[in-house]
Amino acid sequence: MKNIILCGFMGSGKTALGRMLSERKKLRFFDTDEIIVEKMRMPIADIFAKYGEEHFRSLETETIKEFAGSENCVISLGGGLAANERNHPYLKEAGIIVLLECNIEETLRRISGDKTRPLTTDGSEDIIKRYNFRKPIYETVADAVVDSSGTAEETYKKLLSALEELK
Ligand code: S3P
Repeated sequence: MKNIILCGFMGSGKTALGRMLSERKKLRFFDTDEIIVEKMRMPIADIFAKYGEEHFRSLETETIKEFAGSENCVISLGGGLAANERNHPYLKEAGIIVLLECNIEETLRRISGDKTRPLTTDGSEDIIKRYNFRKPIYETVADAVVDSSGTAEETYKKLLSALEELK
C-alpha cells in the first residue's frame, strides 16, 4: 500500500491523526518533526534559534526525499513542509497526500501561545496571514482534503472515507 501523508497547518491534527491511523491500521508511523529532532538531538525551537529557519527547511526537504519508494507508512508532516513548493515533487513520490484543514478560529484556539513551536509566538494576526498564504499551496499538492475542525474521532471517520474514495 502507498504511504499516507498527512499535511496541513500547525494544529490541524496531523500528528494525533497520524498516530491513530497507524495504530488502528497497523502501519508504521513517522513524523518529520520527530525525525529532525532525533537527527539534530535538539528541539525544533533550538534548531531555529541556533541554525536558522532556512536550515530547518533544508532538513525537511532531506527528510521527505528519503521516503521515495517506501510503502505502508503513515507520515505526518511539519506544517511548513507542504507549504514549500520545492517539496511538492518529493511529496508526490512519497505517497498519497491528505490535507487536514481546520478552520482558523479553532486553529488559533489550538496553537496560540504554544511555546514549543517557534512560529506560534507571533501574534494571531501573523498566524492568520501565514494560514491564508499557505492554504492554497497545501490545496495544490493534496490528493484529498479532510475537515479536521472537530474532534479526533470525527476527523478519523472523515479521513477513512477520503482514503476509501481515493482507492
Ligand atoms: C512549522 C510547523 C511545526 C514545525 C515547525 C515549523 C511550520 O510542525 O515543523 O515549528 O512552519 O508550520 P507542526 O505543524 O507539527 O506544528
